[in-house]
Amino acid sequence: MISIPQTTSFILALATLLETALASDNGLALTPQMGWNTWNTFACNINEDTILGAAKALKKLKLDEYGYHYVVMDDCWSLHQRNATGYLQYDPVKFPKGIKHLADEIHALGLGFGMYSSAGRYTCGRYPGSLNFEEKDADLFAEWEVDYLKYDNCHNEGQSGTPLISYNRYEVMSRALNKTGRPILYSMCNWGEDSPWDWAPTIANSWRMSGDIVNVFDRYDDRCPCDDYICRLPGHHCSIMNIINKAAPLGQKAHTGAWNDLDMLEIGNDNLDYEEQKLHFSIWAMVKSPLIMGHDIMHTSKQTLEILTNKDIIDLSQGNWGVAYRSYKKEHSQLWLQDSKDKSGNIVVALINNGDKDDDFSIHFEDIFLDEWDRRKVGYQVTDLWTKEDLGVVKHKLKVKVKRHGIFVGKLAFAGDPNVKPKVKKYHAEPDEL
Ligand code: GAL
Repeated sequence: MISIPQTTSFILALATLLETALASDNGLALTPQMGWNTWNTFACNINEDTILGAAKALKKLKLDEYGYHYVVMDDCWSLHQRNATGYLQYDPVKFPKGIKHLADEIHALGLGFGMYSSAGRYTCGRYPGSLNFEEKDADLFAEWEVDYLKYDNCHNEGQSGTPLISYNRYEVMSRALNKTGRPILYSMCNWGEDSPWDWAPTIANSWRMSGDIVNVFDRYDDRCPCDDYICRLPGHHCSIMNIINKAAPLGQKAHTGAWNDLDMLEIGNDNLDYEEQKLHFSIWAMVKSPLIMGHDIMHTSKQTLEILTNKDIIDLSQGNWGVAYRSYKKEHSQLWLQDSKDKSGNIVVALINNGDKDDDFSIHFEDIFLDEWDRRKVGYQVTDLWTKEDLGVVKHKLKVKVKRHGIFVGKLAFAGDPNVKPKVKKYHAEPDEL
């Protein structure tokens, strides 16, 4: 039997551990987080009805059964002033029953509740930010039983420009959240500034790697001037292909509990066609970005639902697969690969056609089995993960037709004698295995 003093010292030790634990050690986001966020559809026009309505719609559509768990309230929820003791105050017109009530209602549906603030004097919508108020705000969020914090980068008073300056600013909130003792998923939103993939994995569960997404497939826009991941002006109006191209080399930095965030989904919003939306969803899943829906969920079309609930594609995000990487980028096509994490040697192959017409492509095994040459010699049974079609056993090369702005995603399963199965080599340890 444990004596009282022993119990006390155990609790103290646990409290110290919790206090010093890093966000990535908070046990959350073991697979990329999934959910819905208010911003892409509602921007600042949010209130209790929109958020609860969205949560109920998510539940009614059974999206929670596919993994969509968090309902995240974005910018514009507070009053423009803190109260006399320095605490943030919710807007009582938008939230007549308060934020705790909203959290309770969302929890009653079995969902998680997400909150928003900025590591700056103001949020991007010019509401009070959390810079220099981190502990007060984290305590308040914990009191409201918040499960998730999206933490933005606006009005940061020049506290950026080197990785260390940004790290120090974001680390304060990481500590404050852990100190509350409540597990709160920490989703950093500093738009890839100062290379967060190099320093955020020890303090956060995910970090945005680009400026804001827009529902445009592929278009240069001066408001999103960078086409490379090292970027001094991340901006907004970043197209789907712009973000994909920036994200391609960053997969190596992601691991369990620490993910590159390519921004919220534009599935179900105007402007992107069916092919473009499937491409968008596939790559977000394959690179293990958080899958946070951003459409008007209360008016979800059949087609939107079909895309968002493709179990095979969701499995690439949540299942036993590594983070995808790009094998090549040619004129109007890109080949992406995703290795199975079990010993099966299965691999997922995705061919993007970002050209302006439907086209035929040959995918050569040399471009699939990049390092393990003996794997090029055997046959693989191919399944199309969008049409669910069995494409039979394929050797040497795979031929696919891909629609304009579309994607082919195929699972290749070893189809030979398991006794002569080629070995899968490892060229470096995965961070998860260290
Ligand atoms: C941006 C952020 C968006 C949204 C917006 C709110 O900085 O990237 O996702 O949160 O602020 O004002």
